[in-house]
Formats: sequence, C-alpha cells, structure tokens
Amino acid sequence: MVDCDNLVKIYKTEDTEVMALQGLDCKIEKGELMAIIGNSGSGKSTFLNMIGGLDRPTVGRLYVDGLDLFKLSEKELVAYKRNVVGFVWQNSARNLIPYLPAWQNVQMPMLLTNKSGGRERAYELLDIVGLSHKKNRRLSELSGGEQQRVAIAIALANNPKLLLADEPTGSVDPATSARIFETFRRLNREMGLTIVIVTHDMSVAGKVNRVANIRDGKISSERIMRSDYAEYLKSLDTLEAIDASSDESHEEYAVLDRNGRVQIPDEFLRSIGITGNKVRMELSGDSIVIKPQKN
Ligand SMILES: Nc1ncnc2c1ncn2[C@@H]1O[C@H](COP(=O)(O)OP(=O)(O)OP(=O)(O)O)[C@@H](O)[C@H]1O
Ligand SMILES: [Mg+2]
Repeated sequence: MVDCDNLVKIYKTEDTEVMALQGLDCKIEKGELMAIIGNSGSGKSTFLNMIGGLDRPTVGRLYVDGLDLFKLSEKELVAYKRNVVGFVWQNSARNLIPYLPAWQNVQMPMLLTNKSGGRERAYELLDIVGLSHKKNRRLSELSGGEQQRVAIAIALANNPKLLLADEPTGSVDPATSARIFETFRRLNREMGLTIVIVTHDMSVAGKVNRVANIRDGKISSERIMRSDYAEYLKSLDTLEAIDASSDESHEEYAVLDRNGRVQIPDEFLRSIGITGNKVRMELSGDSIVIKPQKN
C-alpha cells in the first residue's frame, strides 16, 4: 500500500531549514494495522502528511497504492486525497457542529464535496463505527470518544483504501482511547482497511502487529508482535483491559537501511562507555560484536 525510499522532507522558513524526514524507508502492506511512535518533533506527522498527500516530500521515492506521489499534478493530488486516503486527527471532533445530530455531521462534508450524501449513507457510516443507536443525538450530547468515532465515520465516507490517524486518542481518557482503538481494529479486521496510527499512547501501540519508532526523521527500530501473542489477542472479543506494552508481546528490532546502517541506541553506547565516534566491530560466529575503542 505504501512504499517509500529515502524520503526527505525539508521545511524552509525565512531564516532556517528543518530536515523533518532524513531518508526514511518504509513499506506498509495492504491490510496492515500499524502504529508509529517517536519523540515530539521526530517527524511522525510529517511522514503521515506526506503519505496523505497534504504536502509534498522534497526528494526520495513515495508510492501509495501504486501511485507515484512525486508525479501527481495538483489536480491529481486533490483526487488522490478525495479517493484514496481518509484522515483522523487528535481534535477531529472540534471541527464538528455541536448542535447538529450525529448523522447530519456525517452527511455535511459529503454534501460539500458533492458526493452522494444521502441520509442512508450517513446512517451506514455511523453503523460501521458502532454508533447506530446514537445517530439522532446532537453531537454535544455525545462523549469525547463517541464524537471521535463520528469523526472516523466522516473519514470513511469516501471509502478510503488507507486510513491515517494522527494521535486520534491524544486527548481522551484510557477507557475511551481503548474504545476508539477497538473501532480501528474492527475496521481493519472486518473491512481489511489499511490503517496507520501515530500515537504516544503505549496501550494503543501495544495492540498492533507492528510499531515503527521514528527517530530524527528515520525509522530507527520496529517492534513486531510475537505470533503467540497475536493468537492470544485474536481469541479475545475486546482488548479494552489489555495492556501490552511489555516485552512479552513484541520483539524489538533495529532497522538496517539499504546502506548497511543501523542506529545504536544512546543508552547502549553509554552503558559500554562508547563516547567518541569510533567503535571496534568484530564478526564472532553468528554475531557482530561492537566494542569501545582500545586505549
Ligand atoms: N510546516 C512546517 N514548517 C517548518 N517546520 C516544520 C513544519 N512542520 C513541522 N516542522 C518541523 O519538522 C520537525 C518534525 O515535525 P513533526 O510535526 O513531523 O513532528 P512530530 O513527530 O509529529 O511531533 P509531535 O509528537 O510533537 O506531534 C520538527 O522539527 C518541526 O518543528
Ligand atoms: Mg505530530
């Protein structure tokens, strides 16, 4: 679904340049439910915005659903945003209209984009996110999590192939966050929708098969869910009470780029006293050993 190589994004302001993505490589398979984590300013939103066609990368290679995003004209990019991707933000619900019923909030953007925005379609979308029974409630009478699910329904209106969510559970309590995540998981399992969620919420990151960690504009490590753990989760109806941020759930891998580079975590380097920019590297049986420089 997503295939990018050496993706670079430079933001230029009047007096500075920020290299928000520094040669990011990433492949996302159709039907994946994946999380992206990383420190503030590491490039998570930038990456999501590039995939979503909200902004253009500076150099590199970026294909989504077989389309070369570098080659799309402005007009094609508009069509891409309308037809291929759906977006959910942290405060998506803020853009909704509090005094209108949930279903009209879902119908409104469809009317604005000239999509066949019938009432039936709005009902159907609310059903998909599990809010059928509250379709006639005013938005102001719904909880924060329910409002966010209305926002997800809107993001699904164009039948996207790829759903991008930037901190969708960023401003809600843990129980609500679990319910929002449950909605994503159901969309992924039942409709095969490919979903990428940027999150700080480890209870969300712990429940997906793959968690990519962005550091300084590059994916530096990935946590892959252990297969026995995935089987265990499959057997559960609801993951609400699951806290899977521990090592039993996922295996952590450093990411090796095509030039053979890996990023060694600072704490590893510190713990064996590596301070300069040289290390000794040895091949030892089936391992590669890195040691500090000899004095
Ligand atoms: N429009 C912009 N103009 C200039 N610099 C930008 C712009 N957007 C982002 N940046 C810079 O690019 C870098 C990456 O920003 P980005 O928003 O992708 O981080 P993030 O990982 O999403 O952080 P957070 O967790 O705080 O949301 C930061 O240094 C940021 O200041
Ligand atoms: Mg961000």
